[in-house]
Amino acid sequence: MKDKTVLYKISQGMYVLSTKGASCFVDAVSQVSGGENPLVCVAVMKKNYTNEVMHKTNHFALMVFGKNDNPDIIKTFGFSSSKEMDKFAKYEYFEQLDVKILKSMIGYMLLEKVDTIENETHTLFIGKVIDADKFKEEEAMTYSYYQEHKEELLKVQTERGKTAWVCSVCGYVYYGEELPNEFTCPVCMMSKEYFNLKKEEL
Ligand SMILES: Cc1cc2nc3c(=O)[nH]c(=O)nc-3n(C[C@H](O)[C@H](O)[C@H](O)COP(=O)(O)O)c2cc1C
Repeated sequence: MKDKTVLYKISQGMYVLSTKGASCFVDAVSQVSGGENPLVCVAVMKKNYTNEVMHKTNHFALMVFGKNDNPDIIKTFGFSSSKEMDKFAKYEYFEQLDVKILKSMIGYMLLEKVDTIENETHTLFIGKVIDADKFKEEEAMTYSYYQEHKEELLKVQTERGKTAWVCSVCGYVYYGEELPNEFTCPVCMMSKEYFNLKKEEL
């Protein structure tokens, strides 16, 4: 491939994906048909606990993340595992068909799983929208806006003279002078070449 970064020009949004017992932050969402019950798909990495749980459940929700929403939600849902914590514990939510839905975001769609497609790293879950609601009229955050502003949104902090490495794909921050050999991002699996050095001057 001559330049794979052209793929970054596919515009995507920012969402919280939730199913009974697991949730994570996602950008790989597309609407693939219209009609009364549109089809929407989401690609979930196999290493994510949400992927394992989504194979066993029939319903999931996608909540739309807005430009003015609390960036802490990205960290909670995007950088930790549902296996180790209840990601909803510090936020207001309600439940529909046992799926937890955040109240603070722009709105949500509730989907019934209709099909899955697998490749080596991801599962594409295709769902039929069975309910949807919009809570506020605000601009949704795009993935490219997140790319441009992730350091300020995630409040990447470096103590003077100390070093942080920021993943250019998802925003995960590794603190340490050197990235270990063979390091891959624990969130998006990109290799160390995708990390940018951030160091405060002394
Ligand atoms: C901005 C952003 C976008 C992400 N997009 C996706 C995505 O589209 N698909 C995916 O599987 N993981 C995505 N992730 C990573 C998961 O949210 C992350 O690995 C999470 O910790 C998985 O949690 P779980 O183990 O509870 O499922 C994204 C993370 C961030 C911060």
